[in-house]
Amino acid sequence: MNLVGLNEVLAPAAKGGYAVGAFNANNMEIVQAIIEAAAEEKSPVIVQASQGAIRYAGLDYIVGMVRTAAAGVEVPVVLHLDHGTDFEQVLRCIRYGFSSVMYDGSQLPLEENIAMTRRVVEISHAVGVTVEGELGKIGGTEDDVTVEERDAFFTDPAEAERFEKETGVDALAVAVGTAHGPYKWEPELDYPRLQKIKERVSASIVLHGSSGVPDEAVRQAVSLGVTKMNIDTEIRQAFVRAVVAYMQADPDNIDPRKMLAPGKEAAKKVIKEKMRLFGCSGKA
Ligand code: G3H
Ligand code: 13P
Ligand code: ZN
Repeated sequence: MNLVGLNEVLAPAAKGGYAVGAFNANNMEIVQAIIEAAAEEKSPVIVQASQGAIRYAGLDYIVGMVRTAAAGVEVPVVLHLDHGTDFEQVLRCIRYGFSSVMYDGSQLPLEENIAMTRRVVEISHAVGVTVEGELGKIGGTEDDVTVEERDAFFTDPAEAERFEKETGVDALAVAVGTAHGPYKWEPELDYPRLQKIKERVSASIVLHGSSGVPDEAVRQAVSLGVTKMNIDTEIRQAFVRAVVAYMQADPDNIDPRKMLAPGKEAAKKVIKEKMRLFGCSGKA
């Protein structure tokens, strides 16, 4: 199937009360794991490429791998740029064939974030590419912030309404208590804030840092209207642990394919479990 934009998978999710998994592709085996999991679960899926993935593989390999994998399945696949912060890179992604982009201006002052995101939306929409923006600071679990600081970083519902109106984004990443990477403590989500954002914003709501969020909190976030759930860390952990276990069991192995195969299977298992948790299994 050809690549599709975010709205094609997220509008039905909003109607059906489920979320679609957005999985970070770190390498070829993980691209295969994501697409095979989606086909076997009959689930729509978002494959996303981070800055690290682009540095590692380059845009031509990423687009080549995802297009090839998507062409072999019937389920809708979105190829999305994750946390783009460079306007020219966004343009390159569109030219290479991404069907969706994220422009992350969350480190900029609000006015600049709005102006830059609007610029990305104008260009992307003109060529049929969807856009995710970010408001509030999501950060990493390594960032040492106090409770007061944490609160100040969260997305303000009134600002979110203004951001959507002035930028025209299709999706909005919000800061409501999640962070990127492995959590040191169980994350606490600010559900009342999420509800207020949802009441004021009609764009799809995105939860970054969804790895390590307890299942019950994920279900609650979905019930409050989150329709895109980003997962990277749990896939990496499963992949690397399986490869290490394989090498410990067979330290003399010199075939990289034998070493990576268990990583791919472990990644696929995590992705399928997340698809069932998000409710997108069986929705394609
Ligand atoms: O949100 C972004 C990713 O989880 C981090 O990705 O280390 O591949 O740039 P990266
Ligand atoms: P995790 O690595 O915490 O799953 O976050 C992924 C993410 O938000 C990618 O944008
Ligand atoms: Zn993220």
